[in-house]
Parts: sequence; C-alpha cells; structure tokens
Amino acid sequence: MFMAKKCINTLIISFLSFSLLAQEIDIKQGWKFKQGDNLEWAKPTFNDTDWKAIEVGRNWEFQGYEKYDGYAWYRLKVFIPSSLKKNSTLKDSLKLLLGKIDDHDQIFLNGFKIAENGGMKFTFGTKDNSPGNSAYGIERRYAISTQNPAILWDKENTIAIRVFDQIGGGGMLDGKKYSISMVDHVDDMSIDFNSNPFQFKQNGSFSKTIVLSVNTTNSQNFKGKLLIEATDVITKEIKASYSVIAEFNAKNPFYFEFNLPAYENLIARYSYLDLSSGNGFSESQEVPYILTPAEKPEPKINAAKVFGVKPGSPVLFTVATSGVRPIVFSAENLPTGLSLDAKTGFITGVINSKSETIVKITAKNQYGIDTKNIKISCGDLITLTPQMGWNSWNCWGLAVSDEKVRASAKAMIDKGLINYGWAYMNIDDGWEDKRDEKGVLQPNDKFPNMKKLCDDLHAQGLKVGIYSSPGPQTCGKHVGSYKFEQLDINTWASWGIDYLKYDWCEYSQVYMPNFVMNTPFLKNPKDIVNYQKPYIVMQNAIANVSPKRDIVYSLCQYGWTDVWKWGAMVNGQSWRTTGDIEDNWASMAGIGFSQAPLAAYAKPGRWNDPDMLVVGKVGWGPSLRSSRLTINEQYTHISLWSMLASPLLIGCDMSQLDDFTLNLLKNSEVIALNQDPLGKQAEQKIKNQNFQIWVKQLEDGSKAIGIFNVSDKEQNISVDFKSVGINTVKNVRDVWRQKNLGDFGVYETIIPKHGVKLLRVE
Ligand code: GAL
Repeated sequence: MFMAKKCINTLIISFLSFSLLAQEIDIKQGWKFKQGDNLEWAKPTFNDTDWKAIEVGRNWEFQGYEKYDGYAWYRLKVFIPSSLKKNSTLKDSLKLLLGKIDDHDQIFLNGFKIAENGGMKFTFGTKDNSPGNSAYGIERRYAISTQNPAILWDKENTIAIRVFDQIGGGGMLDGKKYSISMVDHVDDMSIDFNSNPFQFKQNGSFSKTIVLSVNTTNSQNFKGKLLIEATDVITKEIKASYSVIAEFNAKNPFYFEFNLPAYENLIARYSYLDLSSGNGFSESQEVPYILTPAEKPEPKINAAKVFGVKPGSPVLFTVATSGVRPIVFSAENLPTGLSLDAKTGFITGVINSKSETIVKITAKNQYGIDTKNIKISCGDLITLTPQMGWNSWNCWGLAVSDEKVRASAKAMIDKGLINYGWAYMNIDDGWEDKRDEKGVLQPNDKFPNMKKLCDDLHAQGLKVGIYSSPGPQTCGKHVGSYKFEQLDINTWASWGIDYLKYDWCEYSQVYMPNFVMNTPFLKNPKDIVNYQKPYIVMQNAIANVSPKRDIVYSLCQYGWTDVWKWGAMVNGQSWRTTGDIEDNWASMAGIGFSQAPLAAYAKPGRWNDPDMLVVGKVGWGPSLRSSRLTINEQYTHISLWSMLASPLLIGCDMSQLDDFTLNLLKNSEVIALNQDPLGKQAEQKIKNQNFQIWVKQLEDGSKAIGIFNVSDKEQNISVDFKSVGINTVKNVRDVWRQKNLGDFGVYETIIPKHGVKLLRVE
C-alpha cells in the first residue's frame, strides 16, 4: 500500500519539477555588482565586464563590502524565451521574483524603470536624503504586462537594480526564489500551514491540517494534486507521504488533515500541481520535535542556587520545583526574618542586615524527595542569576490588558512554568493613561486595579514588572516619567511592582530635539553623560523608593554608547544591547551571535540583554501568529540565550502555549546553564561560515558547549574539544536530551540548518 502510494508520489514529483523547470527561469546566479551610483548603469548597452560577481540572497556585507552603506548596483543578463508566454495559461504578465532589498531600490529592465521601493521620501542622488521608510522587509514580486516594450522576447535582457542602503546590512537578500516565469492562477493560491499548529498525540506523533485556498473574485473551480512529503533532512529518507486530489474555489478552500510520525529533523513539503495549467508551487516547513524528556512525578528543585535581596526589602522567592502536587516543602537554616510556606514553597519575609546564608531546602511528595542548598544573599545585589519571566510586548504590543496579563500568569502556573524558575510577569508599554491632579500616573481602562493585579500575582508566587520611559512620552506615545521619576517609582512600589523596564524613546526630545534614529550620533565622547543622565535620575529614584522594595532596573536604550560599559554604574541589573528583536533568523541570529564582545560585562546582578524571546504565538499587536522562526531556529534561540546568560523573557501569549514551545521552556538542564550562579556569558571560540562554537564556564567546573550550525544546510561537524580550550573531557552530556553520551575528546555530529547541539562536559 505504502509502496504504491510512493510510486504515485514519485511520478507527481517528476511531473511537478518538469513543469516548473519548463516554465520558470532561475535567476539566482550570474549577478554583477558595483558600489557607487550612475544612471548609465541602467542601460543594456553599458559594458559591465569589469564588475565583480556577487551572490543575491545574502547581504553585501558578507561578500567583501563590510560596513558599506550607500548606493550600489546589481546587473544581470538573461534570455527570455517567448515559449514562456506561449506555454502559459494566462498570457497576460511576466512574473519577476527578486527577494528582499535592503533598503531602497529602483528596478530597470532594459533601461526602462519598472519599479521603485522604499518610501522614496528621499531623493536619489541629492543631498536631501533624509531617509524614507526602509522597504527592507518587502518581498519584491512584479508582474510586467507581456505587452510592455521593456521585455525583449527571445533576446538577451538586462535587469539593473539601483540600491540605496541607509544603514546596517545592504543589498539583495532573503529571497526564497529568484526567477522569471508567467503569472498564473497558482499565483493567487496559497497553502496555509501556520494557522493550525501541529497537534501532538499521545504516542508522540502529530496531526496537522493544512488549507489550500485561492484568492480571486471569480467563481472558477480548480482541481489539482496536493502532495505532502515528510523527509528526514539528514538521511534524506521519506518518512511519510500523502497525495490527494484537491478541488476548491474562492469560497470553498480545501482542508486536508494528515498524521506525521515522531522523528527529529523532518521537513514537510506541501506541493500543489494544478491539473489544468500544469503549474504548481510548493512550501515547506520543519516539523516540531520534542527533545525535553517528560517531567518526572518525583520532586525536583529547579530554582537557581542563589537568590539576592537587599536588607529591609520584602522577599518573595518561589522555590521552583517540578513534580506531582501536593509537595511538602521544608527548610533548614533560613535567615532570621524569613519563613517558608510548606505547601507552596514560597519564601517570604524581610532580612534586616547583610548576610549570606546557605539554606537547605527539601521538597517531598508521594513519589520521592529532593534537597538543594540555596544561597540567600542579603546585600547590594539582586538578580544574581538572569531574570526569568514573561513580557507582554512581543505578543500584545500596545494591546496589553489586565485580562491578558492574568491569562498568561494563569498559564505560567497551570502549565507548570513557574516550577522551572519563570517568575516575572512584565507589563510593557500600553498600560499608561494620564497623570491626575497630584501628578500620579494612572493606568488606563484596560487595567482597572494595578494593586489588585500585583497582589493576585504575588499570591501565586509570581512577580510583576512595569514599563516607562525617561522621556515625556514612551515609544508607544504614552505618558513617560520625565520629571516625575520619584513619584512614579513610589506609585509603582505602592502597587507592588518588582521590575522596571526603562526605555529611552522620547528622551531624545529632551536631550536633542533634532535627533534622528539610526544615525551614529555620539560625535563627542563627552556627550556620553547625556545618555547616562536619565538613567542616573531613575537610579536615584529607585534607591530612595518608598515603600522600600527591590525593583529590578532593566535599561533599554538599544545598546547605544556601549551601555554594557556603564550599565552597572547606574545600578542597572540588565541593559538591552541591541534594537528590537523580530521573529526571523536574520534578526535573532544577528543579535544573538553578535554578543561575543560583551562577554566580560555579564556577571551576577549585571546582565547583557539581547531582547526578549520570540517563540510561541507572537504578533506585537492585537492579533497573533506562530513565530516565524523554524523549529531548529527556536532550539538555537533558547540555547543561545541560555549560553549568553541573558535575561529570559518569554514574549508569547502563554495561554496559547503548544507542546513544542513548552518543551523549549521547561528543560531544567538548559535553564540551569542560564541560571548558573557563576554568571559567566559564553565565549565564542570558533566562528566560521558554517558553524560557531561557544563555551560557557559553569560554577561546578564543568563547561557548556553550544555548537551552532549557522549555514543554510545541514553540516557534518567534528569538534576536537582541545581546539575550544577543553583539555580533559569526561561525561559528555547532551543537555536538551538530558542524556550522557560518554567520554571522548572529539565529538562528531550532524546538525540541521540553523540548528544546535548543546553539550555539557565535566
Ligand atoms: C521599544 C522597546 C520595545 C518595547 C517598545 C514599547 O523601544 O525596545 O522592547 O518596549 O519600545 O513601545
């Protein structure tokens, strides 16, 4: 049965690739490049033989033009046969796919300008080039009428692209496909494979529903073959396949539900072949796989080994413990002033003087017992391990509300994340209303009672964070704390707030009204005091907060002026090192892998913050979608952030957490790397085009090793531990799988595209 099905599929594949081959010209290769600007370069007659070859799909920064911003041109010569038109069903338009272009561009075909992107508020080539909106994220897809004289049928054509890069990476990048073909009905069709996530079944396999639809105003019926194939990316073996006839129209999409077996590293490819036109398209996606072992019923204390509090501040320390409830907690040697709730495992109270105490905690249930020594350090430092929690921004953006925070808090508890150390529930921008007559900043209608919200979350062992800006307004155009710093921090403390994210935003208006974002602006090193000033004002306000309270101070000014060098000086517990993260590889990997030079600045109580996590359902606004990071990219994201000793702030709607995302967030051994009391950030030991190796020194003398495949295909990687500074190796452990692999000096592994292996060695 399976064999028979496979045969049919093979036929379909060859049919599909043949038909695509005949009707599509691949234009990924053969591009030429030159920096500078000259409109003569648009002309087909221009002689570009001395131009350099360049790859499209990758920033020019990676191809020998490091840090180049400004103009550059790409040119390509390509033969366009009229058979393309003749063989097509709709004979109207030629389709040109050029990927994304960073930031602005004009596209010429045989000297005719056929498109222009990028806000174009600035004028090409003039001095008045105040940057327009970057068109960086937009896929360049064009339909050019077959009647257009710009197209030279059965002749050589010249495509010339004039690019203007404002800042950062530049050029033609990120194209799924670079091609010339004919516009067809299939261009209006799409396969939605994101709206319905993979559903885990008891035996580890999945069920999944995909939807094939067409976006057209007519009522035409379509019929074609839908082929689904799940292939092991490493062995190339096909592990499951389905082929069905799909009939659908604009009103009635075609739904197809299927099952996939539980394997690591499967790619599901969904292909559609239209029976009338012979055209098709395909999409693919990585299939989730769970690496974190199932939770055991017996207690396991996952809380970090150290906890810091200041003398006189109220303590709330939840002894994060997994295992079946009820669990009975007890403690030996608790410092005076603190008590432990035997049922909940919450330690509360106040310590009045500086001290360091090793407390022996025991957690016991009907299945077993666990004990752990935890150091309670009462002194000047808090967040002795990186903050762990949730923040509303990457999911809800300005649409955050009391209800949404509570829903995520509920999931934090119901789904057991609190038992792994996740604690802070941080409200980002969007909670603020006006100041009352006394100047007290009021929450808006979405937050009926902040104190009650804080009380309710504290009662469940969680902590609460808030957001503001040192400027008159926040980035979301809400009221900021400028000139009300002490009043604001006191108000928040009276509600019971435990954490402040303090975001530069409109402070620029105070300090330099003509400030332009994205412009390197620290012209005079003495200027640095102006960047520090608002953070010192709030530092002092926090120091004088009344009622007394420990409030984590998280600086957010996007890493300007090397904040890691002075964040500790203004008593910040963490400082954002970059601009905002997005849920794509370029953003996540770009941020994560660029943290290497900052390693020396991370230490207990002082953390580099490469921004919040982008796993699960995110969206920055009222409507959410699944993270666009692939499965392996998500493993890399969590592994890298753990290795970097970064604050871990979940950015998704927790009430919609799926099993895969939970597996990412509930791996006690991965979290333990992040929460290691030594507080070292991993060092980048090997960096090449294909992979990177990072090593993190841990408190007990062992080391964590992250091997990251940063290339676009699977890599066979062999690591001689000596080459990354580890001479004696014992007990190599796979951290995600929580399995010992043995003793060896050279480790060989195959890692899929953008994936990771995380090891711990003694
Ligand atoms: C940005 C900040 C984001 C988010 C947002 C709120 O400046 O980097 O993380 O807080 O403001 O408006």
